[in-house]
Amino acid sequence: MNNFTYEYPVRQHFGKGCAESAIKEEMKRVGPNVLLAYGGGSLKRTGLYDRLQGWLHECSKRVVDFGGIKPNPTYDKVQEGTRLVRERGIDFILAVGGGSVIDCCKVVSAAAKLDEDIWEMQYTKHQFPTEFVPMGAVVTASGTGAEQNNGAVITHTEKRLKQPLVGAYYDFAILDSDLTLSLPMGQVVSGAFDTLSHCMETYMGQPQTDNVSDELGEAVMRNVVKNLRALIANPDDDFARGELMWDAALAENSLLKLGKQTDFQCHMLEHAVGAYTDCNHGRALAVIHPALYRHLLSEGKEKLARMAERVWGVKGDTVEQTAALGIDALEAFIKEIGLPTRWSELGITDEGILHAAADTCILTPGCCKQFTREELFEVLKERM
Ligand code: NZQ
Ligand code: ZN
Repeated sequence: MNNFTYEYPVRQHFGKGCAESAIKEEMKRVGPNVLLAYGGGSLKRTGLYDRLQGWLHECSKRVVDFGGIKPNPTYDKVQEGTRLVRERGIDFILAVGGGSVIDCCKVVSAAAKLDEDIWEMQYTKHQFPTEFVPMGAVVTASGTGAEQNNGAVITHTEKRLKQPLVGAYYDFAILDSDLTLSLPMGQVVSGAFDTLSHCMETYMGQPQTDNVSDELGEAVMRNVVKNLRALIANPDDDFARGELMWDAALAENSLLKLGKQTDFQCHMLEHAVGAYTDCNHGRALAVIHPALYRHLLSEGKEKLARMAERVWGVKGDTVEQTAALGIDALEAFIKEIGLPTRWSELGITDEGILHAAADTCILTPGCCKQFTREELFEVLKERM
């Protein structure tokens, strides 16, 4: 295992129906001016917006709205939030939504404390923020585990980049599975596949030898597969819904990553395609994963074979065969749960876009193979 120092700052409130009591408890610790951040229309449609306003007013908070944060949040939206925090003297940011709202607010929290452009600071000067406006996350769409870490994924529209930015950690995360009941099943599946992807991206990192983090990862992967099947079969299965929510948290609260360098090449490809197409994160990961892994059949065969046996329960006569059978099983699962395996299913038909994505994609040092851009383009093109 590689050396590490582990410190984890996010308080967790987990459980069906826990949101009201958790918010009221947490609000005792924060200042009077609260920025309530949310996405497009779902919060108001489900009635959660009115309930939140009620709870916050009961706690004597003055609430400033920051709505309209779209999927794949933009840098422009980060700047809008940053202005609001400064102009309205915000003491605390309450982010309510999925990964997009949660990520946008991480960067708002950091940018509001800076007098320089946070994108340029991180990508030109390679400096990172150290002061933040305190925040809490209420998860309404689980899967990304974004509430667990301090990395945000932001789309810079003019630069045509969707890339990570370091932001704040949340002081607390509220994981109440009841709040996800209104999420369309397509997004539930996309989110759960994202969780599986985070586990695979961690598992496939370096070193390739197994450590205890990998064995935990295998357990989380098996749990995602089992509970996603259960939830698709019965959307009222609260147990499965809660398990998936905690799986998402476990995949991103750094436990599985301890003592390892992660891979995340598939994610970087998805982000690059996303910068050009605004595609759905989990759905695009489903398109890329099997294709990318077939290009790792030489360099990553031992790890792919272990995943095949321990997660998918398949085994061939040789390591190579087992690894290949595991990728087939992953692809069969993707089809079984209704996710796409071709770009056309996401409305992406222009090869030029895939070329541009391969040309701008971040190349990750933790991947067991150092890809050339041409080969990454081949990976993407195979899915046309
Ligand atoms: O905007 P509204 O109207 O709220 O609708 C949202 C959105 O359209 C809807 N939704 C959320 N909660 C709902 C609901 N609809 C009905 N009922 C509810 N309870 O769901 C749609 C998708 O929301 P979004 O937040 O975009 O989805 P997700 O959680 O998958 O987040 C995706 C973003 O997270 C980034 C992705 O790149 C993408 O930008 N990621 C962040 C990560 C991180 N910070 O650790 C890790 C991931 O790898 C990922 O890259
Ligand atoms: Zn992801």
